[in-house]
Amino acid sequence: MLELEGRTALVTGGAGDIGAAMAAELTRRGARVTLLDVKSPDDAGPWLATASAHGPVDYVRADVADRADLDTALESAGPFELVLANAGIVESAPFLDITAEQWDRQLGVNLTGCFHTAQACARLMVAHGIAGRIVLTGSWVGTVPWPEIAAYSVTKAGVGMLARSMAKELAGHGILVNALAPGIVAAGLAKWQWENEPAYAARAAGAIPLGRPQTVEQVARTAAFLCSPDADYITGATLLADGGCSLFHQE
Ligand SMILES: NC(=O)c1ccc[n+]([C@@H]2O[C@H](COP(=O)([O-])OP(=O)(O)OC[C@H]3O[C@@H](n4cnc5c(N)ncnc54)[C@H](O)[C@@H]3O)[C@@H](O)[C@H]2O)c1
Repeated sequence: MLELEGRTALVTGGAGDIGAAMAAELTRRGARVTLLDVKSPDDAGPWLATASAHGPVDYVRADVADRADLDTALESAGPFELVLANAGIVESAPFLDITAEQWDRQLGVNLTGCFHTAQACARLMVAHGIAGRIVLTGSWVGTVPWPEIAAYSVTKAGVGMLARSMAKELAGHGILVNALAPGIVAAGLAKWQWENEPAYAARAAGAIPLGRPQTVEQVARTAAFLCSPDADYITGATLLADGGCSLFHQE
């Protein structure tokens, strides 16, 4: 019997690098996973292939920043026992150059989108008597300023407090809520920058005590742990799994 046998799981940002790896890991442990992402099913194709490495997954297109769109998607797809609110965007800019639109977009997807996902799914859990798990994807930069991503860092700091607030209010329903704070992952924009911007790569390499970027599988295993029976007394935590990045003051 696998540890997540038959559990229903939702992964937002599931057609991205980390989300697809999370889906594959949950499926490997026996869960039945639905990916949710703003990408069209065609555009999501390559990530769907990764996500279904250990078994079939479902896919639903929705924008987590648009509550009506998300609610419509969840009406037919939910409820879920395990929810990984993982969709996120990052737009780098020096602080003095950040536009109001960039600020709003990142807050809208990373923080408000997390709120929409977590609240909508928690309401369904309560309505169906599900003592579920909710894991919000934060980041080590939620507590450590990294150059030129002030808006993003603020969203990830907010995600940590969202998890704490939800954990306290939902404990009576048996729902455990935590944040996961990865480090510098070979995924998404960070991977692209690592491969294409030598200045970024040098700065990032110097910031990782373990000396190598985190793999998506390492992030996925940590997320799966927070969904597992072994984590049944953990709630309101931000689990920092960052290879030691946050131990440094980096210029
Ligand atoms: N890559 C890193 O170094 C790193 C480090 C720490 C945390 N994170 C976080 O991990 C999560 C996944 O990032 P990733 O590196 O896999 O990036 P990614 O770009 O590969 O994946 C992000 C996914 O989110 C989706 N998405 C964006 N806006 C959306 C919306 N409005 N509604 C639904 N889906 C939306 C994208 O389409 C994409 O598929 C993000 O929350 C990110 O902030 C990443």
